[in-house]
Amino acid sequence: MTEPTRAAAPTPAQKPEDDKRRTLVATEHLSKYYPVGGGLFSRSDRLLRAVDDVNIRVRRGETLGLVGESGCGKSTLGRLLLRLLEPTYGRIVYDGKDIAPLGQAQLRPLRRKMQIIFQDPYSSLNPRMTVREIVAEAIRIHSLAARGTEEEGMVSDLLKKVGLRPEHMNRYPHEFSGGQRQRVGIARALAVQPEFIVCDEPISALDVSIQAQIVNLLLDLQDELGVAFLFISHDLKVVQHISHRVAVMYLGHVVEQASVEKLYASPMHPYTRALLGSSPVPDPERKRLRVLLEGDVPSPIDPPPGCSFHPRCPRAISQCKKEAPPFAEVHLGSGHKVACWNPHVEE
Ligand SMILES: Nc1ncnc2c1ncn2[C@@H]1O[C@H](COP(=O)(O)OP(=O)(O)OP(=O)(O)O)[C@@H](O)[C@H]1O
Ligand SMILES: [Mg+2]
Repeated sequence: MTEPTRAAAPTPAQKPEDDKRRTLVATEHLSKYYPVGGGLFSRSDRLLRAVDDVNIRVRRGETLGLVGESGCGKSTLGRLLLRLLEPTYGRIVYDGKDIAPLGQAQLRPLRRKMQIIFQDPYSSLNPRMTVREIVAEAIRIHSLAARGTEEEGMVSDLLKKVGLRPEHMNRYPHEFSGGQRQRVGIARALAVQPEFIVCDEPISALDVSIQAQIVNLLLDLQDELGVAFLFISHDLKVVQHISHRVAVMYLGHVVEQASVEKLYASPMHPYTRALLGSSPVPDPERKRLRVLLEGDVPSPIDPPPGCSFHPRCPRAISQCKKEAPPFAEVHLGSGHKVACWNPHVEE
């Protein structure tokens, strides 16, 4: 692909200690399992492994793109990072501190630093509240401004920042177009001056003509505010455009993570190569692009043994059926990690 990609994350860290300092959120063996089946009166110990042993890292001020087929665990991972879901296992290290064991009260000060933007701005905005009330709600929860003029000034500044007019604050969500509503959702997220925003398919419900505007808004806001994004999308072109680094998920696992340049120019995992080679097809039902690969995705309830991609993999070797591959760098120090026994490696 020839799309321009973003420069490396601002001031890329050279030394390991710098690198560590710049990490905003990292996961260690993060997992979310759901008990399934069994019905009301029978106990079942079958587990759906929505997110399984995930190790990812988002640096301050950078965008980590997250891609993978429907159901692979992207939204679950995004919500786990924000502790909107309870992890089953593993660590979520936010700004140097493991937040996985924290209770709701201890999480409260952190809630301000971490926000989420949803796919469908309409269902995430209360239709009975004006834009002013929607944005001010976040300001009030965290006591960021005195009610009255100060608060109104803040709402007005936020609306300008996301490309809306201050007089829009007295309108209700239904009075806006889809793109404008997403701008309201972004203003609400920004109201608390977050450091990290999970963008869960923020543009896939929008008209194509509007998508670029929202992507550009996110890029501008990142440059201005230094906020980090986890950007979940099915649109690989947009992910390439917006991300500094990209993680690829398959059946609850992150199977590859690299800088956007390396991932798109020399993908190592056969799954990543298949994703990049497949053309996204319009999915009218869900109003977004879905990536279709040959073969069915196995169930996350009884994933195949060994590497869970092996039944669909053109490069599978006997080891792949027996043992799960570690997620590691092929070239030490490259920052390009892959979970594969037989990765594509260009000599
Ligand atoms: N509350 C739940 N209970 C049981 N299973 C769940 C629950 N939430 C999610 N899952 C399952 O976990 C897996 C991962 O779901 P998730 O929504 O994270 O996928 P996704 O990658 O975001 O998919 P999409 O691209 O369609 O949004 C799926 O198999 C899903 O059915
Ligand atoms: Mg999702």
